[in-house]
Amino acid sequence: MKKELEQLSQSAKQAIENVGTSKELEKVEQQYFGRKDGELNNILKSLKTLSDKEKKIFGEAANSIKQELRNLLEQKKNSLGDKQVSEQIEQGELDVTLPGRKKDLGSLNPVSTIQYELENIFRSLGFMILDGPELESEYYNFEALNVPEHHPARDMQDTFYIKGKDQGARSKDEERLLLRTHTSPVQVRAMQKYGAPLRAVVPGRVFRYEALDASHENTFNQLEGLMIGKDISIVNLIAVMKTLLKGIFKKDIKVRLRPGYFPFVEPGFELDIHCLICDGRGCSVCKNSGWVELLPCGMVHPNVLRAGNIDPDEFSGFAFGLGLTRLVMMRYGIDDIRLINLGDLRFLKQF
Ligand code: FA5
Repeated sequence: MKKELEQLSQSAKQAIENVGTSKELEKVEQQYFGRKDGELNNILKSLKTLSDKEKKIFGEAANSIKQELRNLLEQKKNSLGDKQVSEQIEQGELDVTLPGRKKDLGSLNPVSTIQYELENIFRSLGFMILDGPELESEYYNFEALNVPEHHPARDMQDTFYIKGKDQGARSKDEERLLLRTHTSPVQVRAMQKYGAPLRAVVPGRVFRYEALDASHENTFNQLEGLMIGKDISIVNLIAVMKTLLKGIFKKDIKVRLRPGYFPFVEPGFELDIHCLICDGRGCSVCKNSGWVELLPCGMVHPNVLRAGNIDPDEFSGFAFGLGLTRLVMMRYGIDDIRLINLGDLRFLKQF
């Protein structure tokens, strides 16, 4: 065994020394270290047949030869690699003065950037950040929000209906699924899960059957807000809205509050902001009115509180549904909403 090992070591060293190319070196490596029929591996396998004493002696010797040969192989690999590179440079095949290829780094879509900013503002006000299903049950999207079947308010928010069943459906009413038209369904889901008092915001994608134009998309983002507690009033609502707009625009923005109708709030309002694209002069985004509808809001309707298992005689609250995509347009001066989902890198790289 000793002799065999010595012979193998000698011949392997010689073979490594003599190779001139990487391909040849691979062959030598295979010959001695190959898993199946490698000569060194075969010797190591045959150690099994020896006595314990012999195993110890020859095992150690075989392993040290193995290590020595591995080191030689590595050294040879490196020197062949260097040689190849220098040959390529000499022959003009490799130009090391060429600049490297720059790897493009991805970046956040402006909608995500503003969403994260808003989340930080609301977190600092003690709000939870919640999520809800995009494939929603008809019950949570409409009924639970005080919009019964055949109510005309459903026409304003048409969407895709999908055959299927809400996983957590407790009644027949909850069984029809649709692509949610707003983030408001998470209001009732949150009330049922966390009870009162409650402060939460819900950013998310929503879907509508829309005639597309500069300010209307079929897939856009909203941020729902909900605050429920004892003695919550419109004063709290306005204070939170002002904090939100100041946090985003870093300056005072002209706003107007007008009555607005949503079956799930009473009273309901529309908070519009002065159009920042045209500075109020009139453009396609504000439909020449100088104002952009941004923040519908109101005091949560008692029927909605009841659907969320909250007693309206004990608790009150406000809710709002911010048009996140439109806010992004105002903040960055984007004059066509369709650019945002287009996926055109020339547009996205500006942010
Ligand atoms: C709603 O979706 C209500 N759920 C908002 C709400 C929540 C009211 C809580 C009261 C209490 P509305 O359909 O107006 O309301 O949409 C809310 C905002 O989403 C609008 O102000 C607007 O900024 C934005 N929005 C609506 N439709 C589109 C659209 N097609 N494309 C882009 N943004 C839109």
